[in-house]
Amino acid sequence: MCPISRQTLLAGGVLLYALLHGTQSTLHEMVDAIATFDNASDTTGTNVCIFSTANSSLPMLSPLLLPTLMSKYPTTFVDMKNYVNVDTASLASLVLLDLTAYHYEFPFQCIQKCLNIHPCYRKSAKFVILMGGTSFQRKATAIRYVEKYSIMNYILVPLTNTSGPFPVYTKHQFTGQEYYFRSSDRPVQQFFPDKLRNLNGFRFMMHGVTVYPYMLFLESEGQATGMVPNLVKHVIRDRCNGTTYFMEESKYRRVMHGLFNIPIERFHYQHIIYFREETGVFVVCPIRTV
Ligand SMILES: *[C@@H]1O[C@H](CO)[C@@H](O)[C@H](O)[C@H]1NC(C)=O
Ligand SMILES: *[C@@H]1O[C@H](CO)[C@@H](O)[C@H](O)[C@H]1NC(C)=O
Ligand SMILES: *[C@@H]1O[C@H](CO)[C@@H](O)[C@H](O)[C@H]1NC(C)=O
Ligand SMILES: *[C@@H]1O[C@H](CO)[C@@H](O)[C@H](O)[C@H]1NC(C)=O
Repeated sequence: MCPISRQTLLAGGVLLYALLHGTQSTLHEMVDAIATFDNASDTTGTNVCIFSTANSSLPMLSPLLLPTLMSKYPTTFVDMKNYVNVDTASLASLVLLDLTAYHYEFPFQCIQKCLNIHPCYRKSAKFVILMGGTSFQRKATAIRYVEKYSIMNYILVPLTNTSGPFPVYTKHQFTGQEYYFRSSDRPVQQFFPDKLRNLNGFRFMMHGVTVYPYMLFLESEGQATGMVPNLVKHVIRDRCNGTTYFMEESKYRRVMHGLFNIPIERFHYQHIIYFREETGVFVVCPIRTV
């Protein structure tokens, strides 16, 4: 009915450019700052792992983001078709989880597949989870999944179609505290608070068998003495404000957080600690969590 004037088109084009460009520059800058922080704080340097899916809006929202990361740091790129050989891949210190293809939901099946099959990240890796559309409204699902995989250093980044800074969110799983930032906040270190410093009473459970002088079950239920329990109590109780529980009974082995002297293969790794005592020569802990 009413023909669109050249001015309107032009104005629309400029607005669209501003919107896209605004998001692009802040997202790009934020991730770049996180990578710089990561590279500076990690002695082995940043290794990036990028999980992406079909129909991602990332190339449109931030065309320079992936090329910049890939040009600066060793990068592994993973999608549903390309599989990483975890034995040969360097373990990533920074993981970019691109869920921008999903506008209304947190794609837990996709995440489950990615994280079960590609545990190519270190325990300490920083996760940047980009969420599309209104999917951030279902952040409880996202949180449930990162906790399921024991991912602690994560931020959820809802990428709306507005210009300017966007929210950055994380949650302390032990205290329940929620943190909201803006993508333009600096320094980016504050996005990744040390959540292990306060386990807030979290009960660290460890299974073991009696091996003198490493572990001895002589006391009441939940208690143990010896070198290994002393070390665990020092770290968990004194350093991290958690509590400890030790048990000898083997049927609960699979739900334990730590195991003494009995390694069990798990499909994906969680916060598991093996202390090995074979010849009295070595104690290994933790496996693949540096
Ligand atoms: C990463 O850190 C190393 C060692 O500190 C440094 O040589 C390198 O230039 C850094 N890379 C980037 C892209 O900042
Ligand atoms: C991507 O878009 C195509 C075409 O719209 C659709 O058939 C396909 O299911 C989408 N894939 C994902 C993973 O959303
Ligand atoms: C942002 O996206 C929503 C839903 O996709 C749409 O309703 C809204 O008009 C968009 N806003 C702008 C400024 O483009
Ligand atoms: C340590 O954990 C307890 C819960 O067991 C909590 O009440 C307390 O506030 C925590 N201490 C600190 C310093 O956060």
